[in-house]
Amino acid sequence: RNDNLKDRYIGAIDQGTTSSRFIIFDCTGVPVASYQTEFRQIHEHSGWHEHDPLELVDSVYTCIEEAMKTFLALGHSKCEIEAIGITSQRETTLVWDWQTGEPLHNAIAWPDTRTKQLVRELKEQPGAEELLNICGIPLSTYPSSVTLVWMLRNCPEVQRAYEEGRLAFGTVDSWLLWNLNGGPDGNRLVTDVTNASRTMFMNLHTLQYDDRLLDFFQIDRSKIRLPKIVPSSDPDEFGRVSNGPLEGVRITSCLGDQSAALVGHCAFTPGSAKNTYGTGCFLLYNVGETPVISKHGLLATVGFQLGRKRKPVYALEGSVAVAGSGVSFLMNNMGFFRDSRKVSEVAATVPDNGGCVFVTAFSGLFAPYWIDDAKGTIFGITQHTQRGHIARATMEAACFQTKAILDAMEMDSGHKLTELAVDGGMSNSDICMQSQSDIIQIPVERPAMHETTALGAAIAAGFAIDVWKEFDELKHMNRANRTTFTPKISKPQSAKMYKKWSKAVEMSRGWLD
Ligand code: G3P
Repeated sequence: RNDNLKDRYIGAIDQGTTSSRFIIFDCTGVPVASYQTEFRQIHEHSGWHEHDPLELVDSVYTCIEEAMKTFLALGHSKCEIEAIGITSQRETTLVWDWQTGEPLHNAIAWPDTRTKQLVRELKEQPGAEELLNICGIPLSTYPSSVTLVWMLRNCPEVQRAYEEGRLAFGTVDSWLLWNLNGGPDGNRLVTDVTNASRTMFMNLHTLQYDDRLLDFFQIDRSKIRLPKIVPSSDPDEFGRVSNGPLEGVRITSCLGDQSAALVGHCAFTPGSAKNTYGTGCFLLYNVGETPVISKHGLLATVGFQLGRKRKPVYALEGSVAVAGSGVSFLMNNMGFFRDSRKVSEVAATVPDNGGCVFVTAFSGLFAPYWIDDAKGTIFGITQHTQRGHIARATMEAACFQTKAILDAMEMDSGHKLTELAVDGGMSNSDICMQSQSDIIQIPVERPAMHETTALGAAIAAGFAIDVWKEFDELKHMNRANRTTFTPKISKPQSAKMYKKWSKAVEMSRGWLD
């Protein structure tokens, strides 16, 4: 084995809500080959959001094939890749036939709101108020449990497979692993603690399925194959890639994308945090080895568990349903631009939001509000309003919700964040990051290498095979050439903007279907 970290390689699959990528990093954290591709977003009805499970797998294989072509063209070989890690969108729910591996329904993606009525019904059920203390997640359209109940009630094929004991359930990580690690020793049904903590079936304290949770959702354990829950880094549990250009390579990490971003920022110590602006926007705050159940609308979740010998680290999370998807809406539905990266150019045509506030409540509003009957609403439009104002207001929506989340986090943890580490697509916009700093009135720090989520999966994979043994060894990873945004408006100006946002949130409530 070569001890020079520059000559050692780890691959990371990052399967997100709108795109998949595969990145090969050297062990100093520098990406040497990568490929990214998008896949179909299926919106059959208003509020519905699905993915084709086979397309998800195909997109991952395409990324592996293309990135490997680049890697080989650089003179490397497959055997230099010591392991790969998997990180993926969380909560998105899949069901398939345990015997044939055939999907029994499209994947229902996490922003889907078809279960709104079902959530109201479940909230009335005895025991509903106990759930938060066991699993850390409030009842809403967001977690996988509610989606699975919807599938069981509404899809005869799923129901039949369940009755016949053929139904396999999993989040995207489990589905990808099941497909990647097939073959002689394969088709392992497995998930990690971070992904499992988003299902509402896992007890946050024991890190195992809890019968009180399964009973609440009327899931009979004897009729369904639930993935085995294991730590996020492990040398054996995830198997090996069974075919394609990575055939035989070990899979040694698996974690939800927001957890991976936390690891990618090396937010290993309690009190560190990160905010990722992807399709949605997710702020995770490391609270250490004991979970903190939020009293202010946040989620308690597993941050990461990097190996069986290490304790799990928990996080408080603020989940915002719409960030990059707001920009996609301006592009795909409103025709504002043809390339989402142009949002900053359009925003730069005006100096500020011109008085516009856009509550981008396309999936209701998530943390810390949890308003399921909110709908996307734009306030403050006048004859003066230009596309630039709306573009700014769209990006600012995630920034205002981040401010609401930070306030809630301060109340839950008693700790005030002094700077915010960021990553994800929308963090590339200087205008957006400046607004973020103005709105939260603390510095915002953006790393030079933006693929923090994939880097986190690679780091977790490396821990499983002892590339690193201590967190301290990573303290310089992705630290150089950071960009810092500091507040450019006064506290009273910032408070005035936020007051307007809070009023707009109140006014976006109560839309009846
Ligand atoms: O909880 C959903 C989240 O994991 C999705 O992340 O990056 O696809 O917005 P992203």
